[in-house]
Amino acid sequence: MDLGLKGKKVFISGSTAGIGFATAQSFLREGADVIINGRSEGSVSKALEKLTGEFPEANIEGFSADFASQESVNALTAALPDIDILINNVGIYSSQSFFETSDEEWMKQYEVNVMSGVRLSRKLLPGMLERNWGRILFVSSECATLVPEDLISYSTTKGALLTVSRGLAQLTKGTGVTINAVIPGSTMTEGAEAFLSDLAEKENKTVQQAESDFFSEIRTSSLLQRFAKVEEIANSIVYFSSPLASATNGTAIKLDGGSMGGIL
Ligand SMILES: NC(=O)c1ccc[n+]([C@@H]2O[C@H](COP(=O)([O-])OP(=O)(O)OC[C@H]3O[C@@H](n4cnc5c(N)ncnc54)[C@H](OP(=O)(O)O)[C@@H]3O)[C@@H](O)[C@H]2O)c1
Repeated sequence: MDLGLKGKKVFISGSTAGIGFATAQSFLREGADVIINGRSEGSVSKALEKLTGEFPEANIEGFSADFASQESVNALTAALPDIDILINNVGIYSSQSFFETSDEEWMKQYEVNVMSGVRLSRKLLPGMLERNWGRILFVSSECATLVPEDLISYSTTKGALLTVSRGLAQLTKGTGVTINAVIPGSTMTEGAEAFLSDLAEKENKTVQQAESDFFSEIRTSSLLQRFAKVEEIANSIVYFSSPLASATNGTAIKLDGGSMGGIL
């Protein structure tokens, strides 16, 4: 199936690794032009090297910018060209007790997880509306509704993204621009791999056992009963960013393996 993405210009925040990197690969496979992002020049050029090796004919660029620093974000937004597809992917978390989570930590997660998408959308949405075509996708999380007790600040930011996404979609009424959120469930990134191998070591079990125990003891509501692969999330992000998904606007798309429950 041709998703109609050839030549579309895509920016993906937080894309030197994890879901963002896999999303860059999926867009490049479809012939889109991709700009990736990470905090440092070093990580961005390493990721660029991998991607240009895999897609030697593609147009790929990288911008280093730290979404925890407003100055860094201002420099990025000033330098960004017109973008057709914005993927607000960057997201950080810290697993800790609510009582030990400082105001600074709350604000840092809000800055990186929410304000990154707010600032990028404020810069890029007007051009999309003027050209009468564009896509913005916010990457939320199942935590927005499951709200694990050790991730209350993170979960709050992921809930806020759903509200920002819906609000911005209302500004697209009657145009060819769509704005949606995707809601991934537990996904096997490098971070999740490290979490599982730490857990396995601590509890003296295999990594496979640690994964299976995670679903039988912690994420019991998951129907998938395994971590999603980054490609599974990336493929849906790419589809919902494509011209083929033109009837989907102002909604939240679950990619949670059924963990959030409910029919809608
Ligand atoms: N993995 C999951 O299970 C899961 C589940 C649900 C939702 N999500 C959401 O999916 C999105 C991607 O998650 P992920 O697990 O793939 O993330 P990840 O592997 O932790 O992401 C790492 C990426 O984020 C970049 N990054 C981190 N902090 C940054 C900052 N301050 N400014 C710019 N870039 C920054 C890193 O760049 P450098 O290292 O190059 O700086 C790297 O490219 C997040 O919004 C997350 O909340 C993930």
